[in-house]
Amino acid sequence: MARREIGASGLGREQGQGQKQEQKQEQKQEQKQEHIRLEGVGLRYFTPREETEALRGISLSIGRGEFISIVGPSGCGKSTLLSLISGMLRPTQGTVTIDGAEVAGTSDKVGYMLQHDHLFEWRDVLGNVTVGAEIRRMKKEDAKRKGEELLKRYGLGDFIHHAPAQLSGGMRQRVALIRTLVAEPDILLLDEPFSALDYQTRLTLSEEVFRIIKDQNKTAVLVTHDLSEAISMGDRVLVMSKRPSTIAAAHDIVFDEGDNLSPWSKRQASRYHDYFNTIWKELDDHDVPAL
Ligand SMILES: Nc1ncnc2c1ncn2[C@@H]1O[C@H](COP(=O)(O)OP(=O)(O)OP(=O)(O)O)[C@@H](O)[C@H]1O
Ligand SMILES: [Mg+2]
Repeated sequence: MARREIGASGLGREQGQGQKQEQKQEQKQEQKQEHIRLEGVGLRYFTPREETEALRGISLSIGRGEFISIVGPSGCGKSTLLSLISGMLRPTQGTVTIDGAEVAGTSDKVGYMLQHDHLFEWRDVLGNVTVGAEIRRMKKEDAKRKGEELLKRYGLGDFIHHAPAQLSGGMRQRVALIRTLVAEPDILLLDEPFSALDYQTRLTLSEEVFRIIKDQNKTAVLVTHDLSEAISMGDRVLVMSKRPSTIAAAHDIVFDEGDNLSPWSKRQASRYHDYFNTIWKELDDHDVPAL
């Protein structure tokens, strides 16, 4: 697959230690069970006035528990790709499967986290995190118990009965993530979840969200315009081309410093800047407006 060549040659990796690390990563990848698969996926939007070809020929396999980051020019079709995985949209070409079954509509298996938290101001924090589960007809007491447990575990135990307006932007996004987790999805789709926040908050929150997702062993697909975020959170970074968009490059993110680094440690790791420069150049080649 192209990504192996891109990953290895694009960064001019050193032999020896780096190569061993890469082999280890490759073995791990093979051991991973396939969770999501896109096969020759294309998507055209039709409106009475025009037709827009957003995606063309996307083939992709995502392993269970893998964290994928997606970067690409504005309007290339990143959100569209997430909508296809969520089942909100059906591809006009090709197939999307989850656990080997073709995606035919939305399901509880998939949770979404968006740029805006969409919390209900008239409900307290607990009321907000249980709302999705209630809609899905999970028992009210079960949803409440699960919500309380997650809020406590992830540092919001003192805010269970606060109103959303009493929380900071970062806390609100954490509540939004917990609301998604209460419904117990296997897959989390994150569409620019930190972009409405200030820089310091997004650094802290990306650290926390990463820890929560890994702790819960979810498969995650993150769309972001922030390349540092993509590299420091993803096991793999996909670079999409401009429209009609396809996957222009893919990089396994592997660091000599270890397998289980936090996003913050990855930002300090020796190969981080190589990844950044290579992907930045690829984005530039694909005509991305300034990030
Ligand atoms: N419902 C729709 N009907 C028609 N065209 C659409 C629709 N939704 C998206 N598009 C078009 O499809 C293309 C891809 O849109 P999409 O929102 O997936 O891009 P994106 O990569 O997420 O962009 P951004 O980075 O700005 O969020 C765009 O040209 C957009 O105008
Ligand atoms: Mg988008």
